[in-house]
Amino acid sequence: MSILLTGGAGYIGSHTAVELLNKGNELAIIDDFSNSNEKSLEAIKKITGKDFKFYEINYMDREKLEKVFEENKIDSVIHFAGFKAVGESVKEPLKYYHNNVAGTIVLLETMIKYNVKKIVFSSSATIYGKQLSTRYVETMERKSSPSAYGNTKIMIEQILEDLYKSDNTWKVAILRYFNPVGAHNSGLLGENPKGIPNNLMPFIQKVAVGELKELTIFGNDYNTPDGTCRRDYLHVVDLAIGHLKALEKLDKEKSGVYIYNLGTGSPVSVLELVNTFIKVNNINVPYKIGARREGDLDECYADPSKAEKELNWKASKTIQDMCRDSWNYIQKNIKGE
Ligand code: WQD
Repeated sequence: MSILLTGGAGYIGSHTAVELLNKGNELAIIDDFSNSNEKSLEAIKKITGKDFKFYEINYMDREKLEKVFEENKIDSVIHFAGFKAVGESVKEPLKYYHNNVAGTIVLLETMIKYNVKKIVFSSSATIYGKQLSTRYVETMERKSSPSAYGNTKIMIEQILEDLYKSDNTWKVAILRYFNPVGAHNSGLLGENPKGIPNNLMPFIQKVAVGELKELTIFGNDYNTPDGTCRRDYLHVVDLAIGHLKALEKLDKEKSGVYIYNLGTGSPVSVLELVNTFIKVNNINVPYKIGARREGDLDECYADPSKAEKELNWKASKTIQDMCRDSWNYIQKNIKGE
């Protein structure tokens, strides 16, 4: 039996593939390389010494997707594929609704056709929006997002819940990621987006290797101890292991929809992250304080207790590990993806 990873060549998908293969799972990976490349596939094989089926397809191509199900005995799906640039999604909402939402519907219809009703969905803490408390718990309501990206995550969560209501034989795990950062300690897998990164850690990495001149910290007048925003940064390997635990949970359960925050529960500020990166790697990262970025929240972080209790999952890697592994990776992969 195989596990199908959509977007499995991507940052989180590839790290999850490594953990699944190391546990002896059979994998089929599909990816269109819109935000990844085959270097990740080679890295997965090098790290694990294992092989897997790969198809370079867009999961919206129904015919090609059906071929994957015909050629492999798919038992479950981990759905990573989707566009994820918040800013771009505001400018091009239809691109995001088409690829992320319509694409997921094609995937789910195909799963039904081949009687595969077990899915782990890559969701995001962005679905919480601004809540009364900055410590997010899964029972909080989803809040309409200022970005189409965030709204696609909300819609797909709702689609999965409605699907279960229509057919209670489905097994669904919805994983709400906080801020994934870091890289596999081999330095073979990591995140190094082309061009100017939107997210903090990839930006720090590019400044550290001299590709970008300096980091602009978007505001230091927030309601936090040092004035910079606080987030729940999570090592991507801890996040990957969370997916294995979610699959194990679904294997144990008869059916149902299970929602989990995947975070450390310990918020870290922008300044704390930058200074930790500088300290553990003994490298300079020039920065200046600039204006606030539209839409940023002062603080948000996970209450991870439900995942700890029900998945027996707890983030173990420290912010120092995240900074060390990020630096190790970028030094070996300066050219970018
Ligand atoms: C973190 C902090 C910035 C860049 C986003 C998405 C979310 C999820 C994770 C997909 C903020 C500050 C950043 C820079 C800075 N993605 N910053 N200078 O915004 O918490 O979450 O990524 O699921 O959906 O919204 O992460 O890394 O962009 O920013 O000062 O050059 O770093 O203001 O406070 P964010 P981020």
